[in-house]
Amino acid sequence: MCDRETLEDSLYFRHACKRFDPERQIPEEELRFILEAGRLAPSSFGMEPWRFIVIRDPKLKEKLRPACWNQPQITDCSDLVVIAGQIAAVADPDYYGAMFRRRGLSEEMTQAYIERYENYIGKLHSLIGWVAKQCYIAADHMMIYASLIGIDSCPIEGFEPRKIDKILGLERKKERTTLLLPLGYRLQEPPEKKRRPFDEVVSFL
Ligand SMILES: Cc1cc2nc3c(=O)[nH]c(=O)nc-3n(C[C@H](O)[C@H](O)[C@H](O)COP(=O)(O)O)c2cc1C
Repeated sequence: MCDRETLEDSLYFRHACKRFDPERQIPEEELRFILEAGRLAPSSFGMEPWRFIVIRDPKLKEKLRPACWNQPQITDCSDLVVIAGQIAAVADPDYYGAMFRRRGLSEEMTQAYIERYENYIGKLHSLIGWVAKQCYIAADHMMIYASLIGIDSCPIEGFEPRKIDKILGLERKKERTTLLLPLGYRLQEPPEKKRRPFDEVVSFL
């Protein structure tokens, strides 16, 4: 386990990196560690409604950039992780049934879970909204673990989802881009962190 000081440092080390060093590549092993942190992230009902598409091809990054408000992180990062939300899977009885069955519970318990799940997702106002929430948690896991090993990131919501899905050939009925996560190394030190005061944000009852 890390000591508290290291963890606290990582909270300040992590920032939304605006300029990545285009010359620096993340070593394979470290990239895999970050992706593993995403894979092991928690999700509602344990549905893991995500797929991580790692874009390294400079030409593909160039193609994506205009659909991402032309943000330089898209092309300058070492690896661009696209988090594709799995909207068809979470509504597919074969998929969610398997997700519950793998828990090894009794058939009765499994059926009770499935019923509760179907009832829950049936009432959701927006399925993609719910899927995206899970994807954001996975993204945060990746950002935290990246910062712990000295790797920078920037969550990117500034993009045109339809265009990105089209470029990547995603079937929109099946999966949709929820968030982009460029990873790499900073070119310059970040500005001082600006946050609302602790007592304004936290209350104890
Ligand atoms: C969901 C989400 C979407 C964001 N989208 C962008 C983006 O498109 N471009 C960008 O430069 N920063 C983006 N940010 C970064 C925020 O602006 C940044 O986290 C915030 O200003 C706090 O700064 P810090 O992360 O450096 O502490 C996004 C952050 C989140 C959580």
